[in-house]
Amino acid sequence: MSTSAMDVRNDLLDGLRPYGQEHLVAFWDRLDESQRRSLAAEIRGVDLALVTRLYRDPGLPEAIRDLADRASSPPAVRLADREGRFASETARRRGEEALRAGTVGAILVAGGQGTRLGFQHPKGMFPIGPVSNKSLFQLHVEKLLAVARRYGVRIPLYLMTSPATHDETVEYFAAHRRFGLPEDDLHVFCQGTMPAVDAATGRILLDRLDHLALSPDGHGGMLAALARSGGLDDCRRRGIEHLFYFQVDNPLVEVCGAAFLGYHLAAGSEMTTQVVAKRFPQEKVGNVLAVEGRLRVIEYSDLPDDVAQRRAPDGSLAIWAGSIAVHAFEVRFLERMAASAEALPFHRAKKKVPYVDPATGTRIEPDKPNAVKFERFIFDLMPSARHALVVEVDPAKHFAPVKNASGEPSDTPESAKAQMVALHTAWLAQAGGDVAPGVPVEISPLFAMDANELAAKLTPGTRVTSPAYLA
Ligand code: UD1
Repeated sequence: MSTSAMDVRNDLLDGLRPYGQEHLVAFWDRLDESQRRSLAAEIRGVDLALVTRLYRDPGLPEAIRDLADRASSPPAVRLADREGRFASETARRRGEEALRAGTVGAILVAGGQGTRLGFQHPKGMFPIGPVSNKSLFQLHVEKLLAVARRYGVRIPLYLMTSPATHDETVEYFAAHRRFGLPEDDLHVFCQGTMPAVDAATGRILLDRLDHLALSPDGHGGMLAALARSGGLDDCRRRGIEHLFYFQVDNPLVEVCGAAFLGYHLAAGSEMTTQVVAKRFPQEKVGNVLAVEGRLRVIEYSDLPDDVAQRRAPDGSLAIWAGSIAVHAFEVRFLERMAASAEALPFHRAKKKVPYVDPATGTRIEPDKPNAVKFERFIFDLMPSARHALVVEVDPAKHFAPVKNASGEPSDTPESAKAQMVALHTAWLAQAGGDVAPGVPVEISPLFAMDANELAAKLTPGTRVTSPAYLA
């Protein structure tokens, strides 16, 4: 080994020793020059004091039990009441004013690895159009363009990737000329990572001899990454005051919905979130709760079962509000939070993570969870918001998550496509058309964003008898 390689190793060891992480350079002499460089950079990028503290800290479970015991369901405004009449035209007009004034931007988080879906590319590339086969990314961009066109403005898209999805996402958007989004209106930024640690010892895991087991730091990583990448500065420069936030996996999301934004604005809310009424206690959605006047979200996996099962006197679920992870943020609120390192706590999750055995250098595929991963969740900003608001939406119109692979009982590509077809069939009926039973129809957002827009374009009496894509 050259003297300089020894120096680098010794230097790294000095930093690792106080935290008991010396094993990370155990295979130094087996690595070539470029492998050493990349491993050294990865090690230097880890906040070892933070990882040690997070591993030792029992974390949130105790605190969550306590919070859950004191929690009640939040008051919520309803975007549409059960009969489907709009609750408030005033909110819609307020949202439209902001859209027309060009003060609204959008954030799409797409850094997740989509493991459950079993798709080998960024989830946004997944083909979801029931007839068109267009991808989630294309669909989201078209929705954004349709809103921008309706209000005669440009709406910037801040798109978050992770090291796992970044390059392929960038190439995909470039290959498709951003699906029509002007270059200046797409700001792609990459979130950070956190190392996985051995659950029994707290040692950081090596994924390969020259590479740490790193994974995205959760969608809460958005806050720091948006600030770091200049996204918040860009908002300020363009006069963007509010950001509509959504996840890549929901093809039914109403991107920059005017009524939703209107409620957010009318309430002077710093963070507004969309919920649906949960269908059963353990539904896999975040639970929006009120604790001593502050709103917060407790993830399904953290909510104690007995609390989830609680019933109101009328028999309905006491904890009823399920987050669909669609939010509106005031940009000033994000700026204030981004300035505080402690704004978001880390959650721990036990996961199966393949690793290199530090004693032998062989790679091991564990058959049960062996590691702890640390992630931040963006919804943990909610209790810090000076005003926060919950808006209930109809899941049939707003929520069709694509989480699981085909063949699973729920939240599959098939269930999402069926919901899209059902909604578009209903729009056609409302617009005076008719679809033969079992025939799929899909309406491009660029053709119509709702039944009213469709009615203005459709020849009355239109009958659809074979698969149709209106674009
Ligand atoms: C998430 C929410 C849950 C909500 C549900 C609605 C969490 C912890 N839970 O559940 O409260 O009810 O969606 O569908 O968020 N992502 C990143 N970077 C990351 C991790 C995730 O960008 O490091 C993105 C993913 O690309 C995806 C979204 O965040 O767009 C959700 O991630 P996922 O891990 O699939 O969350 P869920 O457990 O499905």
